[in-house]
Amino acid sequence: MTQRRILVTAALPYANGHIHIGHLVEYIQTDIWVRYQKLAGNRCVFVCADDTHGTAIMLRARQEKRSETALIADMRQAHVDDFAGFGIEFDNYGSTHCDENRALCGEFWGAIRKAGLVSEREVEQLYDPVEKTFLADRFVKGKCPKCGTPDQYGDNCEKCFSTYNATDLIDPYSVFSGTKPELRPAMHWFIRTEDEHAFIEQWTQTGDHLHSDVANWLASAFLVDELHDWDVSRPAKYFGFEIPDAPGNYWYVWFDAPIGYIASTHQWCKANNEQLADWWQNPDVEIHHFIGKDITRFHTLFWPVMLKAAGYTLPTKVHIHGFLTVDGEKMSKSKGTFVRASTYLKHLDPQWLRYYYATKLTPKLDNLDLNLDEFAEKIDGDLVGKIVNLASRTARFVEQSGLSAKYPEDGGLFADTAAAGRELADAYQVCDFNRAMRTIMLLGDRANKFVADAEPWKLNKDPANAGRVQDICTVALNVFRQLVTYLAPVLPKLAAEAGALLNDPITSWEQSQQPLVGTKIAKFEHLMNRVDRKRITAMIEESREDLAAKPTTQAAPTAETPVAGTLPAGAAEAGAAPSQWSDGPEALAAEPLAAVCTIDDFTKVDLRVARIVAAEHVPEAKKLLRLTLSLGGEEKRNVFAGIKSAYKPEELVGRLIICVANLQPRQMKFGLSEGMVTAAGGGGPDGKEIFLLSPDSGAKPGQRVH
Ligand code: 2FM
Ligand code: ZN
Repeated sequence: MTQRRILVTAALPYANGHIHIGHLVEYIQTDIWVRYQKLAGNRCVFVCADDTHGTAIMLRARQEKRSETALIADMRQAHVDDFAGFGIEFDNYGSTHCDENRALCGEFWGAIRKAGLVSEREVEQLYDPVEKTFLADRFVKGKCPKCGTPDQYGDNCEKCFSTYNATDLIDPYSVFSGTKPELRPAMHWFIRTEDEHAFIEQWTQTGDHLHSDVANWLASAFLVDELHDWDVSRPAKYFGFEIPDAPGNYWYVWFDAPIGYIASTHQWCKANNEQLADWWQNPDVEIHHFIGKDITRFHTLFWPVMLKAAGYTLPTKVHIHGFLTVDGEKMSKSKGTFVRASTYLKHLDPQWLRYYYATKLTPKLDNLDLNLDEFAEKIDGDLVGKIVNLASRTARFVEQSGLSAKYPEDGGLFADTAAAGRELADAYQVCDFNRAMRTIMLLGDRANKFVADAEPWKLNKDPANAGRVQDICTVALNVFRQLVTYLAPVLPKLAAEAGALLNDPITSWEQSQQPLVGTKIAKFEHLMNRVDRKRITAMIEESREDLAAKPTTQAAPTAETPVAGTLPAGAAEAGAAPSQWSDGPEALAAEPLAAVCTIDDFTKVDLRVARIVAAEHVPEAKKLLRLTLSLGGEEKRNVFAGIKSAYKPEELVGRLIICVANLQPRQMKFGLSEGMVTAAGGGGPDGKEIFLLSPDSGAKPGQRVH
């Protein structure tokens, strides 16, 4: 088999907050995948780094009364320690605030300019005259322009959920100085992603770089229309890299962060006598990014454009996971479910979380739930009951004799377990760890039945049975070794201990295919504890925070803000706040849809029969028609629909269609869109056919669709 060369990245965690169990979904997922690749004999390099730039870091450093560089150095060390505690093993862990990254940003910028993709224009922005700084939306507060609730951020209202521009806030104030901001013009630099529309469309929609749910979401939420210019500069003060040909301006954190993947690889190359171009400009190397669904757009719309312009390899695959919930709810500081990695490590075994997450992870974007009862049951039932038990019930009977010289008759147990290796390898490869864990546990059930039926502890009472006991234990320990090899990407510590027990370190997937015979084994040492429920309670108690006792003037989202797998509380400025993009309201489109939807989810969607009473072209938009819908009675809706390629406006007037009537209205640059029409699509030679859905004649506008 040829050895693949694979470069893997996990999203760079922000340096303004600690790692928590939500982040760990991704780092554990990626680490499992990387360990599988290495075990399978592939050449795999796993890089990551701290994401250090942006206003959130500035704010935190300021609150802590120290420099940004001191803050990011400490936080990086804390991150490195947390990752090590969970057995997450990077080949290089860097920082975006490093010389390699600065140089690469310059190289990318030069190439993007040379490709003619940069334009500049003045933007009016709020400015704090006392602090002499422009204010990102998260650093302006005021009364919500819609509902009047005080102390709302500059991008959206936490009370009424409306979104707006910071300049619309009533009685705005700077979170830095408390003064009223002024509007001042500042020059900004933009990347015109629309110029690469065809390329983005081709890259996202073909070649299996993305899960089909993501590809479809991008197609319908973004590619259906012009892509907006991406604002990649910020005027001083900003903690980041100054743009060489625009002094006083800095690259926006999301420009330099993904380049940090390459910078971290460069550091690894220097330490290992490798050439960067061999890894990032070589078609034989696969590039795999692992990210949470909240940062999909950066990695699928902008990053490919940057890579293409700079002549670096495009990602082979962007693996996207969902968010973590705990006991069915968002992680919450007041409930104690917002658990830091370091707090978890004080109370519980990191292998348990690795296994539990593995049982939940699939290639899909569904959120995953940490149910604490199920967590304890799975560890006790699966790991202790089905895997460790195989060794703990048999190893001591062969401590003296070692394993049988010839592999005994076992009714096909070893051969069947070996044969499952192929399916398991495939499950790991496609990130279906849930499937892999289920298969391994079924094999464990079968092996445990073999031991339970054979009862070596009874036979052992009569020395005449010594040979039979040795054979039974040889089978049990061999299947144990197979299963632990299959679990090694998830449970590297258990694999190391099993290797020590059997005097044969587990270093290759292929070890699952040949039995171990005629060798001595070491004295059996305890391998894994059952879960002490009291320790879970203690962990939750330690994580519980009394929010009432906290200051309320944090610029970051409050503790109850939903937290994404890769989005620490406090990170919204740098990553998540859509208004940080000059991308316009499209950036507010929902996250990629989770694949599973319950009947309750479905009934939330208010589908109605509507009649198109007017239809016209939108001259500035390539794909949109403006429709006026009647939903019965007086009710009319203005809707923009990406159906221009399939319908002439005049054909549509009078037609009954099905619309989504309860979508939050979207402010588009052509006007407000107050709903969505439904259509079938994706057919035809170019995958672009569109068929509007219509009820049978006789249906009445306003009727609900069930
Ligand atoms: O969302 C986040 O946590 C970002 N810090 C991820 C950056 S990933 C990459 F592009 F650098
Ligand atoms: Zn409001």
